[in-house]
Amino acid sequence: MVRKITCLVIVLVLAVLGDGNAILHDYGDALAKSILYYEGQRSGKLPATQRMAWRKDSALRDGFDKGVDLTGGYYDAGDNVKYNFPMAFTITMMAWGVIEHGGSMGAELPHALEAVRWATDYFLKSTAHPGVIYAQVGDPNTDHNCWQRPEDMDTPRTVYAVTTDKPGSEVAAETAAALAAASLAFRAFGDKAYGIVLLKRAVEVFKFADKYRASYNDSIGEGACPFYCDYSGYQDELLWGAAWIYKATNNVYYWNYVKENIVTFKAQIEGANFEFGWDSKHAGISVLVSDWVLKNTTEASTTPFLSYADAFMCSLMSESPTKIFQFTPGGLLMKGGKCDLQQVSSISFLVLGYTNYLKNSTHVIRCNDKTINQAQLLNFVKNQVDYILGSNPLNMSYMVGYGDKFPRRIHHRGSSIQSLAQHPDHIGCKDGTPYFESTGPNPNELTGAVVGGPEIDDSFADARANSSKSEPTTYIASPLVGLLAYLSAH
Ligand SMILES: *[C@@H]1O[C@H](CO)[C@@H](O)[C@H](O)[C@H]1NC(C)=O
Ligand SMILES: *[C@@H]1O[C@H](CO)[C@@H](O)[C@H](O)[C@H]1NC(C)=O
Ligand SMILES: *[C@@H]1O[C@H](CO)[C@@H](O)[C@H](O)[C@H]1NC(C)=O
Ligand SMILES: *[C@@H]1O[C@H](CO)[C@@H](O)[C@H](O)[C@H]1NC(C)=O
Ligand SMILES: *[C@@H]1O[C@H](CO)[C@@H](O)[C@H](O)[C@H]1NC(C)=O
Repeated sequence: MVRKITCLVIVLVLAVLGDGNAILHDYGDALAKSILYYEGQRSGKLPATQRMAWRKDSALRDGFDKGVDLTGGYYDAGDNVKYNFPMAFTITMMAWGVIEHGGSMGAELPHALEAVRWATDYFLKSTAHPGVIYAQVGDPNTDHNCWQRPEDMDTPRTVYAVTTDKPGSEVAAETAAALAAASLAFRAFGDKAYGIVLLKRAVEVFKFADKYRASYNDSIGEGACPFYCDYSGYQDELLWGAAWIYKATNNVYYWNYVKENIVTFKAQIEGANFEFGWDSKHAGISVLVSDWVLKNTTEASTTPFLSYADAFMCSLMSESPTKIFQFTPGGLLMKGGKCDLQQVSSISFLVLGYTNYLKNSTHVIRCNDKTINQAQLLNFVKNQVDYILGSNPLNMSYMVGYGDKFPRRIHHRGSSIQSLAQHPDHIGCKDGTPYFESTGPNPNELTGAVVGGPEIDDSFADARANSSKSEPTTYIASPLVGLLAYLSAH
């Protein structure tokens, strides 16, 4: 499979390396940085409160050629395209982290809510017109052909949409999930009225996703593939979207939808229960719904979700006889190879989520003849996050700006080219090539960005051209926001 991925309160906690070296991680510092990163990915008119000061306004006319305002949102990675499908997943995960761990975020909570809102304001614009969902802005082919700062962009800002004639259930349902998750975060911690606006829109967008069923692969064509093709089908996003709306509304219609369609969609989702990321939501659905399934013995015994979630946990734990995944010698989960840390962060989030939902329950995870306890699950989570922060054979933090040793040559246009303050003149499409080819460090620190990560042998080249390893993406960092909030408080 060709994935896009040319590729993200101070409490000190003790981490112990395999060789006995103790490293103290400052999870509070990493949390603050993981949120700050999103300021570096902002598209549109930047506010006066912008802290990542080397970034300036960009893409101020997105959508105008179609008569709509699609300014705002996030560039997804090291390029300047706004892909709503992975952007929505990024925000679903960030909002889930706020819902579960917002109470542990301290002074970072307002920043986290601001980061969520930067995307949800954009999603409100992209879903404002009934029968149309704007699903992407920026022509990926010309964008990838240039090495340009977002502030200089002169490539076509092509607008791609899904409609009732050319639907896209995955991008629509993931947007509904993001809006519903964000609505819960705002209703719990922030602006309740805004949370209600988001929820109302989530319900409308889900209805569109479900009523007009098709994959955006076909509907927006070369805009989606081969960059963010939906390989896993749209059925998982429909279940995920419905589960999020149930969590946000308690309307049993959505829970029945999930329970019925986990059976109806069986052919499309079979064998995918061990997947979780921007494309496939399968393992995430089981963990999300376990929140309420664990509280109801009828649901627990009549639905398959707990056994799916248990099997997923068993697939990960070294103590489990049914483990299926590989680890590097230094202990990092190595699932896919390319841009591996996206899997590590989102899967670690699920393990922590399941542990929390299990807290008040008598449910036991059985992996054949072995049982897995909550301490083992938490140990897995901590080991994976600590590896990312530098507890690894290279002592390399994969989060930019965290610790002494971190990637300096990340595959990121804005970070690798002199800023507007340093170089006010326009830098054209190909004029950025020398910056791309330079072996020197990036001039602008994209603080908090988390790159694709090391090789299977724990090595890391720190080379800009090696995009699957050195490109940071928004969906690597967003699950870490919740994980780091938890670790900073425990
Ligand atoms: C989307 O396109 C990819 C690449 O061509 C293909 O593998 C996948 O099956 C398609 N997904 C759907 C849901 O059609
Ligand atoms: C448990 O789930 C069943 C089946 O959906 C439902 O009828 C019942 O009301 C639920 N019980 C509680 C206490 O929520
Ligand atoms: C567990 O129970 C305690 C005490 O009843 C409650 O405060 C807490 O919210 C519960 N936790 C979860 C995850 O349900
Ligand atoms: C990593 O840090 C440990 C402990 O300080 C040290 O013993 C080891 O040599 C370091 N490894 C590398 C590759 O820098
Ligand atoms: C990426 O780095 C690895 C070694 O760390 C190397 O084997 C591989 O060829 C590199 N790929 C590119 C595209 O530079």
